[in-house]
Amino acid sequence: MINPIIAANWKMHKTIPEAVKFAKQLKKEFPEPGDVDIVVAPPFTALRPVMEVLKDSPIHISAQNMHWEEKGAYTGEISTAMLVDAGCEFVIIGHSERRTLFGETDGMLNRKIRAALKSGLKPIFCIGETLEDRESGTAFEVIQKQIKEGLNNITSDDIKQIAFAYEPVWAIGTGKTATPLQAQEAHRFIRETIATDLGYAHASKTVIIYGGSVNPENTGSLMDQPDINGALVGGAGLDFESFAGIIKISKR
Ligand code: 13P
Repeated sequence: MINPIIAANWKMHKTIPEAVKFAKQLKKEFPEPGDVDIVVAPPFTALRPVMEVLKDSPIHISAQNMHWEEKGAYTGEISTAMLVDAGCEFVIIGHSERRTLFGETDGMLNRKIRAALKSGLKPIFCIGETLEDRESGTAFEVIQKQIKEGLNNITSDDIKQIAFAYEPVWAIGTGKTATPLQAQEAHRFIRETIATDLGYAHASKTVIIYGGSVNPENTGSLMDQPDINGALVGGAGLDFESFAGIIKISKR
C-alpha cells in the first residue's frame, strides 16, 4: 500500500508572513500523521520560517529547485546542504517551468537528481509532455526520454527514493485537467518505464503523483485511478481551504 503524497507547490508566491500563516493553519488542521503525506514547497525565503512552524508536525517541506554543485561561484543558486539546513526533506526537480522558462535540460536534471540523492533529499521528479507532443502522438516517447535521461546512471536503490510527478504541460495553470483516464494511462506508462529499471515489484511501490489544474472538485476522480498516488498542486495549493479540501478527499 502506497501512502499518497499531496504537495502544494507555491511557486513564486507568498511572503514570509503569508507562508507562516498557511503553515500554522495546516498544522492545526492536520496535527497527526495520517495515510496521506502532506508536503509544502514554499519559496526559498520562507523555507526556514515554515520549518520553524512545522518542525514538530507530520507535514513535510520541499524546495522547488536546487543546484547540483555543492558550493562555489554560482550567483543566485542554492545548494542541497542549504536546503537540508533550512528543513527540506524533498526537492522538486524538473518542473516544466524550469525546463521551458529557464532552459533546464534532461542532462542538468540528471545532475540535480544525483546531487539531491547524495545529500539525502528526496527528489519529486517532474515529467510531462506539451500540447504539441500530445497532438502529434509523441507524448509517451517524450515522457520516456525524460525518465531515461533524468535517471541516467542512477542505481535502482536510489531510484526507489524518487517520487515522480506527471504534469502534462498543457494542464498546468490552464484549468484543463487531464481526464482521469488520460492521467491513468500516462501514470501506467511511467510505472512500466520505471519497472524496466526496478522490476515490477518495486515499481508498483513507486509514488507517481499528478499535477495540472488539480482542485477539490477533480481530486476524487483522479485519486480513484490505480496508478495515481497523489497530487502536485499549484494554484489550488495557495488557498488553505482548497488545499485542505484536496487532502481530505485524498484520505478516503
Ligand atoms: P496548477 O495546479 O496551477 O495547474 O499547477 C500545477 C503545477 O505546476 C504544480 O507543480
